[in-house]
Amino acid sequence: MNIIIREFTNSEAEEISKVAYLSRSHTYKGIISEEEISRRNHQAYNPDAIRQILDYPQYTILFIAILEGNIVGFVQPGIYNYWDEKTIDPSKAQISRIYLHPDYKKRGIGGSLLNEAQNWIKNQGFKEYVLFVHHKNLNAIGFYQHLGFVEQPENRDEDQLCMYKQIF
Ligand SMILES: CC(C)(COP(=O)(O)OP(=O)(O)OC[C@H]1O[C@@H](n2cnc3c(N)ncnc32)[C@H](O)[C@@H]1OP(=O)(O)O)[C@@H](O)C(=O)NCCC(=O)NCCS
Repeated sequence: MNIIIREFTNSEAEEISKVAYLSRSHTYKGIISEEEISRRNHQAYNPDAIRQILDYPQYTILFIAILEGNIVGFVQPGIYNYWDEKTIDPSKAQISRIYLHPDYKKRGIGGSLLNEAQNWIKNQGFKEYVLFVHHKNLNAIGFYQHLGFVEQPENRDEDQLCMYKQIF
């Protein structure tokens, strides 16, 4: 399997958005209401929202995974809460999104994306980073635990567990 992982370009925003809608609808079915999934998809994963990531190169980057010419997943590492001037924390790093097309899970692609994101974070000078995951998203929690993430109960945000990982 020949996976290419690289930064996305403007013209790929539509395809990334489609993968995001599909992955999120599949992942959160039975966990979050369909209305809420749809609202959040339209708000934060529409093609323009994806393109806006390119406006913050000092804070974040989005890597895509390409298999046989198709985008099958993506990951977005960055500065903690870079999109919100009230809560941004330049001393912390975060992965804010990682989503795969449902047909391409469990083939090593998520691990490869996470590795690329972690290298980016490390190259920015960070020694640890966090992410938030819905407490009922047991597949993702298992994946993160397997790859060395540990829960930070004190930073839980309502339904979202905070997990962190040290980079050695
Ligand atoms: C979570 C997700 C990114 C994982 O990607 P993936 O491609 O399925 O995972 P990989 O096949 O790369 O697995 C990497 C390693 O983690 C392990 N792993 C994967 N899922 C696991 C699980 N649920 N429990 C325990 N280990 C798991 C694999 O066995 C593999 O281990 P190895 O490197 O020792 O062989 C993917 O399933 C996904 O996109 N899910 C839907 C979206 C989602 O929930 N995103 C997270 C939002 S916070």
